[in-house]
Amino acid sequence: MSLWGGRFSEEPADAVFALSRSVNFDWRLAPYDLRSSLAHLAVLESSGLLTPEVSAKIRAALLELTHEVATGAFRYNESDEDVHSALERGLTEKLGEIGGSLRAGRSRNDQVATDLRLYAMDAMLATAEKIIHLQQALVAKAEEYSDAPAVGFTHMQHAQPVLFGHELAKHVHALNRDLDRIDDWFIRTSVSPLGSGALAGSSLPLSPEATATALGFKKSAGNSIDGVSDRDFVAEALFIISMVGVHLSRIGEEWCIWATTEFGWAKVSDSYSTGSSIMPQKKNPDMAELARGKAGRLVGNLTGVLTMLKGLPFAYNRDLQEDKEPLFDSFDTLALVLPAVAGMVATTEFDRDKMAASAPTGYSLATEIADFLVRAHIPFAMAHEAAGKCVALAEKNQIELHEISDAQFTAIHPSLTPEIRGVLTVEGALNSRTTYGGTAPAALGRQLAILKSEVSAFEANFSAKSKAFSGMMSA
Ligand code: ARG
Repeated sequence: MSLWGGRFSEEPADAVFALSRSVNFDWRLAPYDLRSSLAHLAVLESSGLLTPEVSAKIRAALLELTHEVATGAFRYNESDEDVHSALERGLTEKLGEIGGSLRAGRSRNDQVATDLRLYAMDAMLATAEKIIHLQQALVAKAEEYSDAPAVGFTHMQHAQPVLFGHELAKHVHALNRDLDRIDDWFIRTSVSPLGSGALAGSSLPLSPEATATALGFKKSAGNSIDGVSDRDFVAEALFIISMVGVHLSRIGEEWCIWATTEFGWAKVSDSYSTGSSIMPQKKNPDMAELARGKAGRLVGNLTGVLTMLKGLPFAYNRDLQEDKEPLFDSFDTLALVLPAVAGMVATTEFDRDKMAASAPTGYSLATEIADFLVRAHIPFAMAHEAAGKCVALAEKNQIELHEISDAQFTAIHPSLTPEIRGVLTVEGALNSRTTYGGTAPAALGRQLAILKSEVSAFEANFSAKSKAFSGMMSA
C-alpha cells in the first residue's frame, strides 16, 4: 500500500514504481527508522495527541517489529516502496488503523533525513574503530623497526637515510587527521531534522528538541527547510572516507613497491597474499593493490553525491534519494579494506639487511657533506655546490662518497677536512636528525610515544561515543 494514494485515481505505472522504489537498498535504515518512530511516538503521547492506551499499543508493536527486523522475521515485500512504507505496513498489520497514527506531524522528508544521520553516525563509529586498529598495527610495526635504517626517497630517488620505523609511523599521522575530521564531522551531523515535517515544521504541538535529545542529537535543526534538505553530512562523510581511502591507497602503493623482487624489503605473509592461476611461483600483494584500487570508487561516490546536490532546489526533491547507495557503498568498502590492510601490515616482515644496505647508496649522504660545511660557516649555496662535486667525482669513479680520499675532499673544498668521515655514515646522518619530527632514534622514540597516547585518546573518545550511541538505540 502506498503512503500517498488519496488524491490519485490510478495506480502508478510499473515503470514509476520500479524507478521510485528504494526499499531494496534503504532497508538497512529500518532500525534507525524504528528508533526515531519511538521518539516521535513519545512526543505525540506527551502532547496529548495520542492517548496513553493507543501509545502503549503502538510502542509494543514498534518494539516487536524492531525485534522482527533484527531477526529477519519481518522484511519488505514486493509492493513496498521504501523502508518507511514497509515499516508502516508492518505496524498496520499488527495494529490495524492505529498503525497509521505515527505519520501525524511527520513526513518521510524529515524521517529519511533523521534515519540517514543516525545510520551515518553509527557507521562512522564503526569506521573510526577500524581506523584505530590499523593505527595500532602500524605503531607496533614502527616500534619493531624503530632501529632499522633504510634509504628514504623523494621523487622515488634515493634521498637521505631514515629509520624505517619513521617511515611507517608517518601513516599513523595521516590516519590521526582522518580521526580528527571524523570527530569534527560529528558536531555538524549531530543535528536532528525530526520535526521539520515536509518542509515547514508542524502545526501540531510537537517538540523537535525533545526528539533530538531522545535520539542523542546535540541539537535540533534551526530551520525546517534546511533540516529536510541538508545533506552536507553525507558529502562530508564521503570526503572523509575518500581521504581515508587515499591514505590506504598510498600505503598499498608502498607495500606493492617494497614487495617487488627489485626492492625485496617486504615479505608479505602468505595469509595476506594471493597466488597466480598460471605462474606457480607468484605471491601477489593483492590486498595492497585493492587498497590502492578501491580509492577510485570512494572518490567516485563523493563526486556522484556532490554532483547530485549541485544546484538542487531547497527542501526535499526526489534526487536526494540518490544520497544513500554511494554512502552505503563507501562505508561498506572501507569496512572491507581497513581490516585487510591492518592484517597485512601486522603480518608483513621486512628485510633489515636489505634496507640497511640501501641506506647509504645512491649518494644519500650528500646532504651530510653540505651540512658539515655549513657548520664550518660556509654559505649553504657553496656547500651545496661542493657536495655536488663530491657526488660527481664519486659517480665518475663508480665509488661511494666515503670512498673519496682525503686529498680529493680537500681539493674540492679546503674545509672538507678528514673530520668529514664522522658524518659520512648512516648512523651519523640518522643521529643528527634530532629536530622535532625528525628521524633520529631519540626523536623517533618521542614521536612514537606521542602517537601512542594520541591513538589511545581517540580510542577512548570514540568508544565513549559508541557506548552512548548503542545506549540510545536500545533505549
Ligand atoms: N525514499 C525516499 C528517499 O530516500 C524517502 C523520502 C520520500 N519523500 C517523498 N516526499 N517522496 O529520499
